Amino acid sequence: MVLLKDDEKMVIQNKKWWHEAIGYQIYPKSFQDTNNDGIGDIPGMIEHLDDLSDLGINVIWISPINLSPMVDHGYDISDYLQIDPSFGTNEEFERLIQEAEKRGIKVLMDLVINHTSSQHEWFKRAMADLDSKYADYYVIREGRGEEPPNNWRSMFGGSAWEKIPGTNKYYLHLFTVDQPDLNWENPELRQELYEIIEFWLTKGLAGFRVDAISHIKKIYDEENLPSDGPDGLVTVWENYRDALGIGEFLGELRDRVFSKQDILTIAEMDVVDPEKWEEYFGDNGYFSSIFDFYHTAYSIQGKEFANDSEKFIEFLKPLVYKKQELANDRVFFTNFIENHDLPRSLNRFIPKEEIGFHSASVLGMFYFFMRGIPVIYQGQEIGMVDYPKETIDGYIDLATHNNYQDYLLNGLSETEALAQINIENRENSRTPMQWNSQTNAGFTKGTPWFAVNPTYHGLNYQQQKEDPHSLLSFYKEMIQLRKNPIYKELLVYGRAVPGFVEASGVVTYQRKLEKQTISALCNLTNQTIAVDYDAKFEVLLNNYAELDCKTGQLTLLPYQGVILEETSSVNGK
Ligand code: NOJ
Ligand code: CA
Repeated sequence: MVLLKDDEKMVIQNKKWWHEAIGYQIYPKSFQDTNNDGIGDIPGMIEHLDDLSDLGINVIWISPINLSPMVDHGYDISDYLQIDPSFGTNEEFERLIQEAEKRGIKVLMDLVINHTSSQHEWFKRAMADLDSKYADYYVIREGRGEEPPNNWRSMFGGSAWEKIPGTNKYYLHLFTVDQPDLNWENPELRQELYEIIEFWLTKGLAGFRVDAISHIKKIYDEENLPSDGPDGLVTVWENYRDALGIGEFLGELRDRVFSKQDILTIAEMDVVDPEKWEEYFGDNGYFSSIFDFYHTAYSIQGKEFANDSEKFIEFLKPLVYKKQELANDRVFFTNFIENHDLPRSLNRFIPKEEIGFHSASVLGMFYFFMRGIPVIYQGQEIGMVDYPKETIDGYIDLATHNNYQDYLLNGLSETEALAQINIENRENSRTPMQWNSQTNAGFTKGTPWFAVNPTYHGLNYQQQKEDPHSLLSFYKEMIQLRKNPIYKELLVYGRAVPGFVEASGVVTYQRKLEKQTISALCNLTNQTIAVDYDAKFEVLLNNYAELDCKTGQLTLLPYQGVILEETSSVNGK
C-alpha cells in the first residue's frame, strides 16, 4: 500500500460532511411558480425536490427569500426573520428544509449582512432620528460643504453616498441607493446579526452562502481622491473590499456563531493571496469555503478573445491550474461556472454556433472533478443560454441599467452599449427555468416576472429527462461518478495534478489518492487534438461514444471530454 504523506493524512482525518457536498443554486424568483403570480416560490422548490434528488445533488443554496422590496431581487432585506410573502411563509420554508432532508439534501440560505434594505425597520428608525441608536447601525457621515463625504463610487454606479433629506449628512451604499451599508464597527449591531443567524440555524439550516462579506470593513477617506472616470468618482477597493482590519469582524462572526455548529459557510469573496487562504477558509478559517471570482470576469465574446476558443482556454488555464495546485492538502474551494450574477457559462466559454451537447458536457467535466465543492446553477444542467434583448428596456436589474448609462457616458453609442450589456449582464442567467415546452416553459401559468427565453421549445428539462443522451443525463452521470463509493474518496480528498499533460486548447488534470489515479482530459475547442497519454486505462466517462487511442496517444474530437481511470502506466510507473 502506498502510504499517504503526512499532510494528506491530516486532511483526510479532518473530514467534514460538506467535503462531499455537490451543490445546486436556486434563484427563487425564476425557479418554479405555483400560485400563478409569475414569481417562483417555495412550494415550487418543494415540487421539484424529487427532480433535484434524481439529479443527485445533496446541498441547495437558495438566493435570498427574506422579506424584501426586491430592489435587488432579495439582496435588499427589510426583515431578516420573515420569508417574503411572494415566496411563501416561514412554515413553508421549514417544510422545505424537512422535505429536502428526507431526500438527503441540505439547505443553505443566503446571508446578506453587509447591508439591509432602506425599508428595514433599523434604517427607517435611523432616518427618523439621527440621534437614535439605529443611526449608528449604518455608515453615516457629514457632507463636505455641498459635497458628499468623499467621491467613492458605488459598485452599481453613481456616488456611494446618499444625502439624508433636511441634513448635511449622507449614508453609504456600496450597492444600490436602497441597500444602505451596515456599520460593523458597532458591537450592538453585530450582536443583532448573530441572533438572526442563530434564529435560522434553529430551523435546521445546514449553513449559508455569505453575501458581499468582503465589504463589511470600511476605511474611510476624509476627502476626495483623484477620480478614475468621467463621473468624477473613484473605486478604492483597498478601502472597502477585504480592507485592513476585516479579520476582527470575520473572526468574531466565526467564533460567536459559525464555529458553534457543524455548518457549511461559503463566503462570496476573493482571497487573492494564497498565503491567506487558511486564515479565511478551511478547518480554522473564517468560513468553510469561498466562492471566488478569479475566472468569471472573462468571456470568449470579449474583444481580447474574439471567439477564439484556444486563446480563451489558454488564458484561463494558468489561473485554474495554479489554484488547484496550491489548494492541495490545504483548503476546499467551491468550484462553479455559473451563478445569478453572470451570463450563462455556455455563452462565456463557447462560440455561439458551437453551443451544443458536446461543448456543454465538456464544460461540465472541465470543472466538476476538480478538487473542491462543485456547484451547479439552475438551468446549467440543461444548457440554458443567454437571452439578449433588443432594447435596454428588456432588462430590469438596476446595476445593468447603471452599467448601460456608464457606457453611454464613456462615449459608446446606444447600439454599442446594448451589445456590450447583452454580452455581460447578469440578468442573462435569471430567465425562468425551462421545465417543459408548454406555455412559459412550465414556469408559470401567469405572467412571468421576467421574460422566458424562447429557446424553451427545444431546450427544456422534461425533454432531457426522457433522453438518456441529454446534457441533463450527462450531469447525472457526472454526479453519480463523484458519489460512486469506489471513487468518492479520491474525488473528494485526492490531490489535484492540474495540467499533467500539455496540449493547447485542452484542460487536463488528475486526481490521485494512494494507488488510484483519475485523469480528466477536456478539449474545449472545435479542433481534433492529439494528447500524449502513456497509461493503460478504463473509461469512466466520455461525452462521445468512442475514444481514439493508440499507444502513448489519445486523439480528442472537437469538444470531447473523457474521465479515465489509470489501470497502470505503459512504462510501469
Ligand atoms: C452579491 C450578490 O450575488 C448580488 O446579486 C447582489 O446584487 C450583491 N451581492 C449585493 O447584495
Ligand atoms: Ca408564485
